[in-house]
Amino acid sequence: MNYKQELAEILFEVLGHELNVKELEMLIEKPKSQVHGDLAFPCFTLAKVKRKSPTVIAQEVSEKIESPTIEKVEVVGAYINFFLNKRLVSEAIIAEIMEQKEQYGAHNLGDNRNVTIDLSSPNIAKPFSMGHLRSTVIGNALAFIVEKCGYKPVRINHIGDWGTQFGKLITAYKLWGDVEKVKQNPIKELLTLYVKFHEEAESDPALVEQGRSWFKSLEDGNEEALALWQWFRDESLQEFSRIYELMNVQFDSFAGEAFYNDKMDRVVELLEDKQLLVESDQAQVVELLEEELPPCLIKKSDGATLYATRDLAAALYRKENYDFDLSLYVVGNEQSLHFKQLIAVLEKMGCQWAKNMVHIPFGMMLKDGKKMSTRKGKVVLLEEVLNESIEMAKNNIEEKNPNLINKDAVAKQVGVGAVMFHDLKNFRMNDIEFSLEEMLRFEGETGPYVQYTYARGCSILRKATWQTGSDLKISSPSWEKEWKVVILLSEFPNAVKRSFEQFDPSQIAKYIVDLAQAFNKYYAEVKILEENAEQQARLALVYSVTVVLKEGLRLLGIEAPEEM
Ligand code: ARG
Repeated sequence: MNYKQELAEILFEVLGHELNVKELEMLIEKPKSQVHGDLAFPCFTLAKVKRKSPTVIAQEVSEKIESPTIEKVEVVGAYINFFLNKRLVSEAIIAEIMEQKEQYGAHNLGDNRNVTIDLSSPNIAKPFSMGHLRSTVIGNALAFIVEKCGYKPVRINHIGDWGTQFGKLITAYKLWGDVEKVKQNPIKELLTLYVKFHEEAESDPALVEQGRSWFKSLEDGNEEALALWQWFRDESLQEFSRIYELMNVQFDSFAGEAFYNDKMDRVVELLEDKQLLVESDQAQVVELLEEELPPCLIKKSDGATLYATRDLAAALYRKENYDFDLSLYVVGNEQSLHFKQLIAVLEKMGCQWAKNMVHIPFGMMLKDGKKMSTRKGKVVLLEEVLNESIEMAKNNIEEKNPNLINKDAVAKQVGVGAVMFHDLKNFRMNDIEFSLEEMLRFEGETGPYVQYTYARGCSILRKATWQTGSDLKISSPSWEKEWKVVILLSEFPNAVKRSFEQFDPSQIAKYIVDLAQAFNKYYAEVKILEENAEQQARLALVYSVTVVLKEGLRLLGIEAPEEM
């Protein structure tokens, strides 16, 4: 039930259809303090339409309002303040949640049409960076959010597994590599080789030539080159999958850059047909003058294709295979230009659907205010970060709840959830400061805090041997103390919708923190388990809160242990 909308409909009738429901809904405000009611309608816009004083209008309109949902109307200057009927509203919302359970808050905006989501997409033979972590966490949450809004998410891991760097890596491996070392610690060892290649190449330019020629062999399908590349890829993916497993993230496709090797000729042909390719410095480019963008490089002078060429092929492939309604790319802010060029080139090719491609950028992860870099030895190994977080969560449990069963499983849910929540609670464009202590706090805006609140709710329900059922009576003489929690519960569907419209999971993260805070305050004030006429209604409220907290966490990709 959406009370803003309901009020808009009431006003629509009262006002004789002067403004439409959507316009009215936009004008309705939520007063800062509940002393001024639950909703307020400022009459300034109406005053312009009607050419009357806003205070007069406020008075006139307020006299005509009559609805069971609205208990009281108050006029303050040009504002009409509305007080909702707490009992009616509370009981309706709770009944709705009890009936819909985890379906509560869902929308059907997409009719099950596809939304492709390009997420995570790390580069093989390189460490999984903080940027890839952010992309994984944000993209994963968006997948759940689009699904909640009635679309079918297709999670694509566009692995960075092709490019001239693999020629260099093969060269380095053949000169200095050691099978056993790579097997033991693939990414670290391959990175060392790659770094050594660059150091040596400074004094030995012949190495660069060798690297180029090995990449050429790779592109031409040379067996030895392919076998090495395949091995590097397999080893890398195995390491990455450990991280995905920790975070409980799954993909529908691992079609990475190499997958498009045999699909790029077609892109080049299409561009030629449309006479979009021009030569510049012996390379083939698409000029983007009207778009005021630098030219998009399609083919190098030696015929080698580029990142952009592969992304063009990928975009066409995704349209053809998934017929997406929306195609999202969750990739760091520093690639904004690349995606602008990509979309512009597709539009030039006549692909109308390119307007449905959205780059979803995000800011950096900082440590002590500086960028966390994976280069120059400052490697922050993500797996270590996650494991450390799990370890800290475990110590916490050991201290607070040593008799908990499933300690390890819960520590994983809490430790990993903490890292994910920390990322998702801020608007994605903001840079975030990395701090394990901060992430794992049980107070304030953290994942563990929300999880803990959920577990507290579950524990209350266990003690009362609560069972939901349709014959449950949830009536209560007063919904005064519950009111703040109830109003928040009613806002969940809107939070979901906003997070989808703005591709912004932080709307949900902030929402569940608010709900958890309101609930904890209620818990401190009211003896929920006391047996009285209100007990069933209170338990129903607790149940509703657990449903929404759990579902909110799930939409962020975070699990909710029932005990912790
Ligand atoms: N592998 C790239 C990187 O780490 C990200 C790929 C993003 N996706 C894409 N379709 N370009 O920078």
